[in-house]
Amino acid sequence: MKIIPIHQQATDTGLLDAARSLAALPNGPIADQRGREVRDLRISVTDRCNFRCVYCMPRSVFDKDYPFLPRNELLSFEEITRVARVFAARGVRKIRITGGEPLLRKHVENLIEQLADIPDIELTLTTNGVLLPKMAKALKQAGLDRVTVSLDAIDDATFRAMNDADYPVSSVLKGIDAAAEAGLGPIKVNMVVKGGVNDGGVVDMARHFRGSGHIVRFIEFMDVGSSNGWKMDEVVPSRDIVDRIDKVFPLEQVDPNYVGEVAERWRYRDGSGEIGVISSVTQAFCSTCTRIRLSTEGKLYTCLFAQGGHDLRALLRAGASDQDIDRAIGAVWTRRDDRYSEIRTANTAGQRKIEMSYIGG
Ligand code: GTP
Ligand code: 5AD
Ligand code: SF4
Ligand code: SF4
Repeated sequence: MKIIPIHQQATDTGLLDAARSLAALPNGPIADQRGREVRDLRISVTDRCNFRCVYCMPRSVFDKDYPFLPRNELLSFEEITRVARVFAARGVRKIRITGGEPLLRKHVENLIEQLADIPDIELTLTTNGVLLPKMAKALKQAGLDRVTVSLDAIDDATFRAMNDADYPVSSVLKGIDAAAEAGLGPIKVNMVVKGGVNDGGVVDMARHFRGSGHIVRFIEFMDVGSSNGWKMDEVVPSRDIVDRIDKVFPLEQVDPNYVGEVAERWRYRDGSGEIGVISSVTQAFCSTCTRIRLSTEGKLYTCLFAQGGHDLRALLRAGASDQDIDRAIGAVWTRRDDRYSEIRTANTAGQRKIEMSYIGG
């Protein structure tokens, strides 16, 4: 069965009307239906990727006929920055550039430069790392603070099987080195753990990065999108990961850096650094979720598992003022009630959801 990309499906286009019917909100942070304020904006700048990770863009679906977004559908850097400024005025303090593979977007450093002009924002980017040797310096110069690099195995054959595009581990390690050299640390390294595929390499991964100053985070395989064939029995609970590493390298838990931190932190008792586990399946963290996502073509999503978005681009291109944009954001966020990971079941996992490569990790 061919999967129709969800971005060709239902979207709430009545945002401008909704926004204009709403009284202007008082200045300052805005809370959703569960009292959560919007703090993190994740911006996807391309739905394309040079990898075909089995849990994200399986080759059987993301093949040569897959209808990736055409150029004119993408938000321009100016449009993105405009939206980001309005969000910043509403209390957003962290912006993450994602994709797809964000470094494939032409001159993404120019976007970084524009976003870096917004005061009091931490600016980060998630990448598969292979373009970092070429781009790390320019990204740093443009004002990027940090990068997170995905790497699902330290064993070459396993990694090649996971990315399904024949990229070797060394291509990512070179990227991590380049980022560190450019001053884009502390670097976080994300490993999605899929039972029976790469979970055998968890301890090796920990061993490799111990003492490097980089922080590996082990992520439970999630049912994002509609194409990755997620099954509960392929999820390796974070608890097991911590136990496996602790047996070899004793660990102790560390307090979170901030309320709502996605990763649970653990440090090596011998002082050789820390790791994180992200338990989005076995210990949902929706109650403190302050994240909103802006897709490549300018739709707002209030949850990673959303089935529909809110078309901000239509608003931007219809000549909306900053106040209109602010009200639209307010209308979307104040109605937000999402807590997908808390209510996930085998049934919800089968729902048609937005692909992660499009909405942004
Ligand atoms: P930093 O602490 O600033 O590095 O950011 P972070 O912890 O949010 O890390 P990052 O953005 O790299 O997120 C890591 C992974 O956690 C993502 O790739 C997702 O797999 C998962 N994740 C992030 N945000 C969410 C979310 O809102 N919901 C769920 N269910 N998973 C998320
Ligand atoms: N489950 C968990 N994490 C995922 N990512 C992508 N797809 C999934 C999934 N199904 C995360 C990876 C990658 C980031 C871009 O998105 O951590 O590092
Ligand atoms: Fe590309 Fe990242 Fe998705 Fe892998 S997880 S296919 S690197 S966007
Ligand atoms: Fe936030 Fe949705 Fe993830 Fe819950 S499932 S943490 S509400 S993005």
